[in-house]
Amino acid sequence: MSAAVVCIGEGAGGALRGYRHGTRMVALTPPRASSSSSSSSSSPSVGIFYATGTGNTKRVANSLKVHLGTLADEPQPISASNARDFEPYDAIIFGAPSYLWEKHRVSALDYDTIEPPFENLRDLEGTKVAVFGVGDQNEYPKNFCDAVGILHEHFSVRGAEMVGMTENEGYEFKRSRALKQGKLCGLALDFENADDEVAGRVEAWAEQLKREFG
Ligand SMILES: Cc1cc2nc3c(=O)[nH]c(=O)nc-3n(C[C@H](O)[C@H](O)[C@H](O)COP(=O)(O)O)c2cc1C
Repeated sequence: MSAAVVCIGEGAGGALRGYRHGTRMVALTPPRASSSSSSSSSSPSVGIFYATGTGNTKRVANSLKVHLGTLADEPQPISASNARDFEPYDAIIFGAPSYLWEKHRVSALDYDTIEPPFENLRDLEGTKVAVFGVGDQNEYPKNFCDAVGILHEHFSVRGAEMVGMTENEGYEFKRSRALKQGKLCGLALDFENADDEVAGRVEAWAEQLKREFG
């Protein structure tokens, strides 16, 4: 497959560049003016990115930011981000709802278009990554929070050091792609059926991440 870096439009920082991947265009933003933000003591070292359909995942992302304080940057929608936006961070939290649109197909929404830079498919080596998601264990007991598993697989392949595993206790579902070796590979939340547990789980997970991010 051929790849070519091309200009695909104008952004705040000048021309936006991208490359063709199959039939799709993948955006590449210009390098940031300062790429040393992760080593600067004043810059947040944790990035938070999320997708959302009706706002629940965004709510969790905002709550994580509150718990992590100055450690974390403001949550950013993944739909307005690309792989270069991950570079300033030592650790990144990714969140997504699960949406089963049709049989055997679970979308993690806008994450479909977030690909590693063409020249470095293992772009997250050396970065700690934790994933979370929201779902509905009563309506979708065979696909509960599958997007958490999808994100985990996606970022593992890119070389990230995955952290943020949680115990599979207090849930009622039959199957989930988030379940790996007896544990949930991230934080799974259910606003529809276990709303009263969300705040406590988020707070406990934020404390866990503070330890695991080091
Ligand atoms: C069409 C549709 C499909 C859904 N599919 C799933 C699913 O496969 N697994 C799951 O756990 N939840 C599923 N849900 C529940 C949503 O993930 C849940 O409502 C979530 O809180 C939405 O998060 P958001 O507000 O960030 O979009 C589905 C909901 C809808 C409306």
